[in-house]
Amino acid sequence: MAGNFIDIMASSVWESEYLEVYDTILLNSEIYLTVRDFHVNAMRGCPIILDSCCGTGNTTLELLKKGHIVYAIDQSKKARDILRKKCAQYANRLPILNADAKHLTEFEDEMFDGISSMFAVYYINDFEQYLREIYRILKPNGIFALTGRVSAKNMELILKSYENSLREKGLLPGLNPEFSIFRKKFLNNVTKAVINCHTFKEMSDLLKKIGFKNIWESSNPYLGQCYSLIAQK
Ligand SMILES: C[S@@+](CC[C@H](N)C(=O)[O-])C[C@H]1O[C@@H](n2cnc3c(N)ncnc32)[C@H](O)[C@@H]1O
Repeated sequence: MAGNFIDIMASSVWESEYLEVYDTILLNSEIYLTVRDFHVNAMRGCPIILDSCCGTGNTTLELLKKGHIVYAIDQSKKARDILRKKCAQYANRLPILNADAKHLTEFEDEMFDGISSMFAVYYINDFEQYLREIYRILKPNGIFALTGRVSAKNMELILKSYENSLREKGLLPGLNPEFSIFRKKFLNNVTKAVINCHTFKEMSDLLKKIGFKNIWESSNPYLGQCYSLIAQK
């Protein structure tokens, strides 16, 4: 459950109309799809996976299509409802939980072969506790795939890339109303909910301190604003 004011403020973003247009815009964005595919590929060879802060389930769905068992957790009801509908045909391999990803008491130690955390760590106030919890529930040698934010600046650059993808696919001006909702929420609400940015080096040092090993940076297409990495327990 959301525990304090920062959590509650951030979670209200995910209950807003932003999530109604999230998939319409991002599932047509090349940079978003590249990051999603990085997370899916990182999890190959992992039978039991946690999609931590799964949102509307875009990574979850691709993992399910590949035959994995996927636990999906998110504290936004709206996100979980979208995910449940999207992944309905795989319900028998998809436990969906309403949980605060910092305190996953419902999960035993060393339960997961792989954990994916995409575009979420920077919204979490106690991100170190979040990462320690991931470490606890990952099996020895298990794989952790993480995409986080280097900065909350230059959001216009990212929006421009999303818009260009829509244009190249011939989806503008048809999706102008959806893009304008997305744009407004992205700049005014989502970006303000970003509270913890890290460089790859800072995050890598923190992961090492927690106990992770074999940390490897992947190229990330978000114009220098995000990093992606794989780490092993
Ligand atoms: C930008 S969305 C990312 C969703 C998905 N991973 C993706 O890349 O499309 C961030 C998600 O993190 C969730 N979230 C943020 N803090 C959380 C927490 N402490 N526990 C569980 N979910 C959280 C939000 O509800 C939201 O759905």
